[in-house]
Amino acid sequence: MTERKGIILAGGSGTRLYPITMGVSKQLMPVYDKPMVYYPLSVLMHAGIREVAIITTPHDQDQFRRLLQDGSQWGMSFTYITQPSPDGLAQAYLLAEDFLDGAPSAMVLGDNIFFGHGLPEALQSADAQEKGGTVFGYHVVDPERYGVVDFDKDGTAREIIEKPEVPPSNFAVTGLYFLDAEAPARARAITPSARGELEIVSLLQSYLEEGTLSVQTMGRGYAWLDTGTHASLLDAGNFVRTMSQRQGLQIGCPEEIAWHNGWIGKELMAQHAKTFGKTDYGGYLAALIREAE
Ligand code: TTP
Repeated sequence: MTERKGIILAGGSGTRLYPITMGVSKQLMPVYDKPMVYYPLSVLMHAGIREVAIITTPHDQDQFRRLLQDGSQWGMSFTYITQPSPDGLAQAYLLAEDFLDGAPSAMVLGDNIFFGHGLPEALQSADAQEKGGTVFGYHVVDPERYGVVDFDKDGTAREIIEKPEVPPSNFAVTGLYFLDAEAPARARAITPSARGELEIVSLLQSYLEEGTLSVQTMGRGYAWLDTGTHASLLDAGNFVRTMSQRQGLQIGCPEEIAWHNGWIGKELMAQHAKTFGKTDYGGYLAALIREAE
C-alpha cells in the first residue's frame, strides 16, 4: 500500500471563540502548555504518518509556518495549503488532492483532542485497512451537535446523519477520518448541503453505502475533547494539566513521539530540550534523553 499521508484541517472561522479568535487562529490557542494543533498532529504521528498537509485560512498560514516549520525538526515533512473560505470539511480532500497524489489519508480536525489507553494501536489498525475507511464513534451527551451514527441491531453502522433533530444514537463521529485513495474523487462527486458546505458526512455516507466504512467506537476509557467554546477550551486545558501533572507524562508532545518513533536522534532531541530549557517541557525532554541512556 502507498504510504498514508496526513491532513490537519485547521481553517474555519472560530466564531464561537470570539473575541479571542479575531486576532489568532483557534488552532493556535493554548491548551494548557502547548498550541492546540500539537494534539491532532500527535495523533497522526502515533499513526506513523510523517508527511502532513496543514490546511489553514490564507491569513493564518504564516503563523502556522512559524510554529510548525517544515516538519524536519520532528523528522517529518509539512506542506501548507490554504482554504480561502470555510466551505466544509470534505473540501479538504479537493484542496489536498495534489498533495495526496493517489495516497490514502488520515485527516484530523485541528481542534480535536484525543486521549486514551490503546489509542496508538487503534490508529495503527485503522491505518492497516487498505480499502474504504475507518472513523470513530464517541458517546456524547449532546449528539445533535454532531454527525451521528445510526447502528442496526447487530451494531453495524448503516447511516451517519449530520446534526439530527432526533439523534438515532449518542455516538458522534469524531474529527478523525482514515480514508482510502478514492476520497478526493468521491469528494468531487458530492454536492453542497443546504448550508452551502461540502459535508464530510456525505463523503462518509458514500463509503457506508458500499459497506467499506468501518465505524469503531471509542469506549469510556477515551477522552475526545472539544475546544470550540470558551468553557470547553478551558476544560480541555485543565484536563491536560490534571493528567500530565499527575503522571509526569506529556500529552501531545511531538518531540517525544518523534523520538519514540525513531524519526529523530539524540542530537536533535537535545537541541529541542535546550530550546525549551526554562520550561517544564524542556525539562521533560531532557529527562527522556537521560532515561534512554
Ligand atoms: P467548526 O467547529 O465547525 O467551525 P469553526 O472552527 O470555524 O468554529 P465556529 O463554529 O466557532 O465558527 O469546525 C471544526 C474544525 O474544522 C475546526 O478545526 C475548523 C475546521 N474547518 C475548516 O478548516 N474548514 C471548514 O471549511 C470548516 C467547516 C471547518
